[in-house]
Order: sequence, then C-alpha cells, then structure tokens
Amino acid sequence: MIKVTFINADGDVQEINGVEGQSLLDIAQAAGQPLEGTCESQMACSTCHVIIDKDWFDKLPRSVEDEEDMLDLASGARRTSRLSCQIILTPDLDGLVVHIPAESRNMQGL
Ligand code: FES
Repeated sequence: MIKVTFINADGDVQEINGVEGQSLLDIAQAAGQPLEGTCESQMACSTCHVIIDKDWFDKLPRSVEDEEDMLDLASGARRTSRLSCQIILTPDLDGLVVHIPAESRNMQGL
C-alpha cells in the first residue's frame, strides 16, 4: 500500500491508500476528493490540478511540456502544482502529501 495524505483548502486531512500503478487522480476520486479530471488524463484540462507539498515536489518525476502548458492555465497554480492524472504511484511516493487547491470547490458547480 502507498499512503497519500490529501489536505483540502479548509485544512481537512484525508489519508488514502493506493497501489502501485494507480494515478493520484484515481485514488483521489475514489475517495471523494473534489477533482473532476474532465479530460480523462489526456492533459487537455486542468481540473485535476493539485499542489504538491514542497518537501515532495522534487521527488516526483518531472512534468513534460504539455503538462506545464496546462498548468499555466490552472487557476491558483503555484510552483509546486502538478496534474494529478500524470502522477503514477510508485513505492517511492509512500507518504506523499498533496494539497487540493481552493478553486476546485468552485469548479464543482460548473
Ligand atoms: Fe485532464 Fe488531468 S484529467 S489533465
């Protein structure tokens, strides 16, 4: 099991267990986190945007240019932003901490 801690904009903490090969988006959605993932991991939306805890950001495989382009469009994006659909769980990521941007609450009403 690979444990990921999700922290939402209100500071609520949820620990979610995933297995190797699942995406961060998959486990977040399965646990009811408010990430839409509209384009089904095609890097054509930014509704799966999350902010990686700064201590973890450099441990992730680097993003490709298409991902960077989508993040430029994501509201509330920060230096440690990533698209959660592009982050595949590996044992190295056990203990990962991820923040859900406040904006994802607003997107749910669209
Ligand atoms: Fe659209 Fe991740 S689900 S970019």
